[in-house]
Amino acid sequence: MSEGTTAFTPRVFSGIQPSGGLTLGNYLGAIKRFVDMQGSGIETIYCVVDMHAITVWQDPEALRRQTRELTAGYLAAGLDPTQSILFNQSQVPEHTQLAWIFNCVARMGWMNRMTQFKDKAGKHAEKASLGLLAYPALMAADILVYHATHVPVGEDQKQHVELTRDIAAKFNHDFKTEFFPMTEPVIEGAATRVMSLRDGSKKMSKSDPSDASRINMTDDADAIAKKIRKAKTDPEPLPETADGLKERPEARNLVNIYAALSGETVAEVMAQMGGKPFGEFKPLLADLAVDKLAPISSEMARYMQDPAEIDRILKDGATRARTIAAPILRKTYEIVGMVGA
Ligand code: AMP
Ligand code: TRP
Repeated sequence: MSEGTTAFTPRVFSGIQPSGGLTLGNYLGAIKRFVDMQGSGIETIYCVVDMHAITVWQDPEALRRQTRELTAGYLAAGLDPTQSILFNQSQVPEHTQLAWIFNCVARMGWMNRMTQFKDKAGKHAEKASLGLLAYPALMAADILVYHATHVPVGEDQKQHVELTRDIAAKFNHDFKTEFFPMTEPVIEGAATRVMSLRDGSKKMSKSDPSDASRINMTDDADAIAKKIRKAKTDPEPLPETADGLKERPEARNLVNIYAALSGETVAEVMAQMGGKPFGEFKPLLADLAVDKLAPISSEMARYMQDPAEIDRILKDGATRARTIAAPILRKTYEIVGMVGA
């Protein structure tokens, strides 16, 4: 992690939406890295952002289930509620309270430029919810209500973290203060952008209509092996070195996934795998993926048998989160000029 905001105690915050099942992209791009940052001596806070999820329609029963499932995924992947603060966003009202202030700091033009908004709103932006447009101001509030200095995310969230910095800078400038830190996105590792198994130019996503395009964290060993075996590739064997992957997005994606799962660099993977035909490489990748993912998915299933325990963990995390967030929100109100703060 780089030193961007030296006046602030380092603190890590990140979040994932409970808007569907978890994919290998979420695991490698986010959750696995959340786990890596835990226990490094820096406070880590990880959130299930249910308020963000409802910016597009969510069936209430499904939202409840997915919130618990994502929490089970956090726990199964190795997040420890005694080492990290784990909670769902709606239980800490300070997020939405600060988001309102940020709605009044951020400019419409900034929001209209967000590529995630443009992608999600599609051709009918006037029919999108107001919440979908305001989404990044709530995300800025999630981060800044803890004065978080570092945010581990996948590549697709870089623009939102940059907007968070813009909001912090404008707030600090408008109110002549240095109250909010300039948060750094932490986008590291071989798998900051895991691509679809069917199309190397598209991000692996829980919303892709083709289930064969992604590996779900709940897929069993057979499903994982089958999807990797069928993953789109070109007919050539793997190149000898990483350089040869440049113009071969599908091959590069599979090598990146291998590297992220094995904890090696792409160069190290190429030293072992360079020149192998896909007929040889894919089964090795499938074995590795099953090896790493199957225990997580069975742990997830185990946690899901005890939803009351999951709810208890989220409630306890929310209480701890509020002890940090409440004084920062109060101070923000005071800076803005709210009586009674
Ligand atoms: P979301 O599921 O959109 O809430 O994303 C949760 C986290 O997973 C964010 O940090 C994303 O950047 C990350 N993420 C989602 N899809 C991918 C992907 N295909 N590759 C890498 N990271 C991803
Ligand atoms: N926008 C993020 C995503 O879609 C989720 C998110 C909400 C988030 N608030 C956050 C990520 C704060 C990091 C920090 O993936």
